[in-house]
Order: sequence, then C-alpha cells, then structure tokens
Amino acid sequence: MSTQLNSEDVARARGLLEHATRVFILTGAGISAESGVPTFRGEDGLWRSYRPEELATPQAFRRDPRLVWAWYGWRREKVADCKPNAGHAALARLALDRPARIVTQNVDGLHEVAAVHEAAGADWEAASPLELHGSLFRVRCTKCVYRGRDRSKVDATDKGELPSCPKCGALLRPDIVWFGEALDPLVLTAAFDEAREADLCLVVGTSAVVQPAASLPRITRDSGGSVIEVNPQATPLTDFADVALQGPAGVVLPTLIQG
Ligand code: OAD
Ligand code: ZN
Repeated sequence: MSTQLNSEDVARARGLLEHATRVFILTGAGISAESGVPTFRGEDGLWRSYRPEELATPQAFRRDPRLVWAWYGWRREKVADCKPNAGHAALARLALDRPARIVTQNVDGLHEVAAVHEAAGADWEAASPLELHGSLFRVRCTKCVYRGRDRSKVDATDKGELPSCPKCGALLRPDIVWFGEALDPLVLTAAFDEAREADLCLVVGTSAVVQPAASLPRITRDSGGSVIEVNPQATPLTDFADVALQGPAGVVLPTLIQG
C-alpha cells in the first residue's frame, strides 16, 4: 500500500494533537486491515463476497439462525487469530496517556487487546473502546435481558447446538447491531458526548458512509474542534478534515503519536 505522507501535513497534525486538551478517536475497519481482518467495502471486503441482507439482519436470523451463526462463528475464529497492529497500539498509548476516548465501529475486539497489552499490567480502562456496532465476542438473548461475553467456538452444523441462554435457555444471538436495527441509545449518547466535548477528532480507517458514526467528526467540528483523517483513500470526510494523512494506519499513527 502506498504512503504519500506530506511532511507539512504530518507537522500540522502533530501540532493539533499536541495542543488538544481532549481527543475523540473514531475508528473503522481500516484500522484492523493490517492485522488481517477484512474490511467491508474494500477490494476483498466482506460485503463484496456476502450479501448483508442474508447475514446481518434480524430477518435473516429469524429465517436461518444456523446460517447467521455459521457466519459469525467463522468471523469469530478468523479474528481470534489476528493481533492488534502498530496503529491499535499507538491509539491505546494515546488514550492511556491523555484525555482521549476511542469509539469504534469495529466488532473485532482488537482495541481492547491493544489496551491491555499497552497498559502492561496497569489499569487499561482508559483505552477501552466504546463499541458502536457491538462485538463478535458478546452475545445476547433473543427472549430475556441476558447479555454476556462469549469467545467459544460455534458449531453451526446440523449436528451442533446453537448457543443458548444460561438464564432462560432461549436462542442467543450475536450482540451486533444489524442492518435495520438501532444502535444502543446509551452507547450512542456517550459517543455524541465524547465527540462534542473533544477539541480534536482523529478519524481512522472508515469509509464514513454508515450513519450515525459518519456524522460524529462533524459534531466535534461544529463544537469548534479540528479533524484529522488517517486513511489511504479519500472519503466523504477528506475535504472537510483539517488535515488528511493518506497512508495506512499502522504506519501513520505511530509517526503521529510518538513516545
Ligand atoms: P469500510 O470497509 O466501509 O471502510 C474501510 C476504510 O478503511 C476504507 O475507507 C479504506 O480506505 C480504509 N482502509 C483500508 N486499509 C486501511 C489502512 N491500512 N489504514 C487505514 N485505513 C484503511 O469499513 P467501515 O467504514 O468501518 O457495520 O464500515 C462501517 C460499517 O459498515 C461497519 O461497522 C459495518 C459495515 O456495514 C455493521 O456491520 C453494523
Ligand atoms: Zn434468556
């Protein structure tokens, strides 16, 4: 992947970061691309090979829970083999060192792994992300209020038993926001608050086409803050950003966030 980093842009971005009192960090699938997690809309993107409406909707789950669980079980296994990259590590250090909050659209859990690693035994909570679209490693009950963490292997073959609720025995579903579903209002409100309170938004690796996440950088801007974008490709946010650093997150972020 080519990196066309302009040193003036890097210097401007470093200046904005140095002077920021509170940083709002919004990430998308691109931050995990260098870890080997497929994006959604890239050349090998998940939505190029699979039809979202057959896999990532409540209707699809009602129609064929086995098929949907097979897809999420497969993604869980694929992601479990991936490690955070230098981009996740740099963001975790930033959030551990300074007032900053990571808000992610990703469901891969890699920000959390990086936070634990970078905190090296100390408290890593400051770098734990708000997960706007849920997590591959959480489940919730289709009948009762049960929600829990779950990293187990899913056997979605005809012989396998689909995950069931430890409280009521009903079918569990991935705790992921599907197409046509609303985001968790508490998580969403927290994300908007973070975007509003920050004086710098660092937006990394998102095509910025899925709402409401895509509008969060505008909230920081409307509240008087600045926006830095890190993405090898142009997005609808590029012209609007104060600085656009066109390169892969794993290269650009460690350059930007030193120390
Ligand atoms: P997309 O796949 O739409 O976009 C990925 C972005 O990452 C693109 O803009 C790429 O240019 C950029 N990118 C690729 N490699 C990169 C790298 N090494 N460093 C930095 N950026 C890189 O993914 P999202 O914007 O995250 O929602 O997609 C948003 C939502 O759409 C997802 O959360 C998912 C999907 O439908 C749900 O499943 C609810
Ligand atoms: Zn239940």
